[in-house]
Amino acid sequence: MLNIAVCVSGGGTNLQAIIDAIDDGTITNTRIVAVISNNSGAYALERAKKHGIEGVCITPKQFETRESFNRAFLEKIDSYQADLIVLAGFLVVLPEIMIKKYRNHIINIHPSLIPSFCGTGYYGLKVHEGVLERGVKVTGATVHFVDEGTDTGPIILQQPVMVEQDDTPQVLQRRVMEQAEWKILPQAIDLIANKKVSVQNGKVIIDTTCL
Ligand code: GRF
Repeated sequence: MLNIAVCVSGGGTNLQAIIDAIDDGTITNTRIVAVISNNSGAYALERAKKHGIEGVCITPKQFETRESFNRAFLEKIDSYQADLIVLAGFLVVLPEIMIKKYRNHIINIHPSLIPSFCGTGYYGLKVHEGVLERGVKVTGATVHFVDEGTDTGPIILQQPVMVEQDDTPQVLQRRVMEQAEWKILPQAIDLIANKKVSVQNGKVIIDTTCL
């Protein structure tokens, strides 16, 4: 059984997709042991509560220094003894010590096809007022392992999504979530839970036998 801790900051629709996929058997051999938010008002915490999952809020604002937050955050994460940490719209930069400790055990969902629209200062679609840069016609989402860089870790799954001419950022963001994020994040967790994912030379290899 893969024990996962899900870190969230907002509405938690990706968290909901994981909960639903566990409930309907799309994700197997997996249990959510905790939902951790940096925002006490995050609706994601409500979703956790409704499903009887432990929810906790820990935010840098509660601490005098970033170092003390980092220490407390890592202690909190450690306390759940999770096999996998899932960043599902989590807007906090992780302490480097945590990334080292949980190498290839932290995944993130990013709302673009990495390496497009990623890196410092980019948060996928959200930075774009109006349309994507230069009228890009295809975007999507990526699930990747987290390393020390920004959106630089080994890519597990990607799903493209078409951009339509009259898309607003909201319409496009919704389509990316529906057609990509809510599918590939649960799918990646299921692959990991069933030991189909390994990282070799910085690249993800998916065992496709018996898929
Ligand atoms: C998603 O678009 C995710 O890719 C991004 O933040 C959003 C989170 O949405 N990083 P939700 O909280 O899962 O609804």
